[in-house]
Amino acid sequence: MKQILAIALAAMLAVPAVAVPKQRPAYRDESRPIEERVEDALSRMTLQEKINMIHAQSKFSSAGVPRLGIPELWCTDGPHGIRPEVFWDEWDQAGWTNDSCVAFPALTCLAASWNPDVAMLYGTSIGEEARFRGKDVLLGPGVNIYRTPLNGRNFEYMGEDPYLASRMVVPYVQGVQDRGVAACVKHYALNNNEINRHTTNVILDDRTLYEIYLPAFKAAVQEGKAWSIMGAYNLYRDEHLCHNSRMLNDILKGEWGFDGAVVSDWGGVHDTRQAIANGMDLEFGSWTNGLSEGTRNAYDNYYLAKPYFDLVASGEVGTDELDDKVRRVLRLIFRTAMAYDKGDGSMCSEEHYAAARRIGNEGIVLLRNEGDVLPIKTDAGRKRILVVGENALKMMTVGGGSSSLKVQREISPYDGICAAAKGVADVDFARGYVGDVTGEYNGVTTGQNLADSRGAEELIAEAVAKAKDADYVVFVGGLNKSAHQDCEDSDRAGLELPYGQDAVIEALAAANPNLVVVNISGNAVAMPWVKKVPAIVQAWFLGSEAGNSIADVLFGRVNPSGKLPMTFPVALADNGAHATGSYPGVKRDGSDIVDLEYKEGILVGYRWHDTKKIKPLFAFGHGLSYTDFSYGKVSADATEMAADGSINISVPVTNTGSVAGAEVVQLYISDPKCSVMRPAKELKGFEKVYLNPGQTKTVTFTVKPDALSYFDAEKHEWVAEPGQFVASVGAASDDIKGTFKFKLK
Ligand code: GLC
Repeated sequence: MKQILAIALAAMLAVPAVAVPKQRPAYRDESRPIEERVEDALSRMTLQEKINMIHAQSKFSSAGVPRLGIPELWCTDGPHGIRPEVFWDEWDQAGWTNDSCVAFPALTCLAASWNPDVAMLYGTSIGEEARFRGKDVLLGPGVNIYRTPLNGRNFEYMGEDPYLASRMVVPYVQGVQDRGVAACVKHYALNNNEINRHTTNVILDDRTLYEIYLPAFKAAVQEGKAWSIMGAYNLYRDEHLCHNSRMLNDILKGEWGFDGAVVSDWGGVHDTRQAIANGMDLEFGSWTNGLSEGTRNAYDNYYLAKPYFDLVASGEVGTDELDDKVRRVLRLIFRTAMAYDKGDGSMCSEEHYAAARRIGNEGIVLLRNEGDVLPIKTDAGRKRILVVGENALKMMTVGGGSSSLKVQREISPYDGICAAAKGVADVDFARGYVGDVTGEYNGVTTGQNLADSRGAEELIAEAVAKAKDADYVVFVGGLNKSAHQDCEDSDRAGLELPYGQDAVIEALAAANPNLVVVNISGNAVAMPWVKKVPAIVQAWFLGSEAGNSIADVLFGRVNPSGKLPMTFPVALADNGAHATGSYPGVKRDGSDIVDLEYKEGILVGYRWHDTKKIKPLFAFGHGLSYTDFSYGKVSADATEMAADGSINISVPVTNTGSVAGAEVVQLYISDPKCSVMRPAKELKGFEKVYLNPGQTKTVTFTVKPDALSYFDAEKHEWVAEPGQFVASVGAASDDIKGTFKFKLK
């Protein structure tokens, strides 16, 4: 026995111990540059592992490399908050009890704040919630340009102007990514309506593409350094945007140098060879239309799964494109899931609720305030406030499509008003109208019972009777997140308010002179009663702190400072997409393709209204305050600008009122004598200044030739034509306070 043991011991001693790695392999070594880590990981991966990495393995995750300890990549909606956990291969929520989130205001509200600092606060806050939930890619923000007021998803985007959207998306992306979560800027590109969103083939000229529809994406990539971009569902030049050679290879990765990963929209990939050749890097949601059921667990059938593997294994296609895709996904993983300094995030913190409230407070727009009806005065005796309208009660965080959430808290407008009135006013309620009484999306239910069997007449009679005895009537209406309202995968039928709200508002206006209309929507709406209603507030979808933000403004705890990021037209025909007959496009014979030509070209929004001289209901950039601002003389440090120079345009702004407030000073540039048609003026600068009563600040804009340029499609470059230009400074696109003429040499 002893002999046997001795032999065994000798044998063991002779065999070298398993080699304990002295140091981490390069791809796991954070001290090494990312590109080294990428190349090292790539060199170790098999063909199957490479194929596995570039498509989904579940509804919202893609495979890592288990053998190498490279983790899965987890994506989550949406732009306004972190979607509840879903089942592996389902859209429905999994019923977890620890995934309720903070709902931040919709991005139209963020855009309406005109405050890049608020965008940074937004990005860091939502990035912390995503990180805490263990998510690596946030499927947002959306920056599709607001072209028609009927687009169901405008509430998720940042308005009609490319410069405003560019300035606001960059800090949001930087904030999210600073928390170790990739932004996935969407939907790239030309996804400007929801009707026929999978089959619309957008037709437009290059100048329009480069001046209007690309800038926000370009800024997100080149300034925001976005780590991922989501391809859109629709087509351009007859190629789906998720594998569109010109948009992905030539422009995004070529001209802009994008080094991140292109993620498909869910169900946006339709062809293996196009996906291989035209820049698609990470395929999600195939076999579904992005919203409904598809073939279950069909991940091996994905276009970039087995079909791609077979093409490579058979030698029909090479591995150059595959390696480029894998490099981009590895880079995304190393920037997120394998970035060990990314922190742990946080969720449902009071800081996040405070952030949501501040974003709402800075984005709410005071559209009209005749006779200073607002703010509600509570100093002279106890007041009686009547709140009317379904939207005073209805939860708005559930529904609307993929941005739908399961919130820990949502303060309704009614609750917010009651809380603010506590001790100083009595608050009563009347339904006013019945709209959408449902409250469920992907298994998340609001738990509200909004059922009301009364007819319109009875509801109006009740509201009017109560209005007669009130000191203030606050009507809270607008749109909601149900189909054909502000909702993904459908567009609105018209500009009008739904559910007979106009009749309620007219009746209330006749019953009480102190009527305030609070419009909750992500889109412009028609207001035929506008002259009969002294006070109108545009309140957006404000998320968890909605009622508090609205009450803050109505009761004057906050002085509103928001400005419209889109034009409110009087009628649909006043909008370029409709006046030209462009929307919703023309169905192609014998095909499901709908050709949609952007006939208004670069004249989108106020560019259309100004140039065609069509007075809007409320203009782009419009927003009132409880104080007054006066503008001094617009001046400049020169009257000529060299081709490589700049000119500083300045204007003093004074708060001449009695309360502190913030003013968004806007700079528009006109090129009155140009060899090509140009809009009457274009936004090229803005600054939000906070002023105490009596305080003056001088705002200075440094204008460079790029602010004077138009895109010359023939030369395929931006051109600033020498000659005279006009700088217009104002409080809105239709409220210019002063101008300054100068020359470009
Ligand atoms: C949806 C949306 C997209 C979303 C994705 C995942 O169809 O178009 O914005 O992020 O699918 O839900």
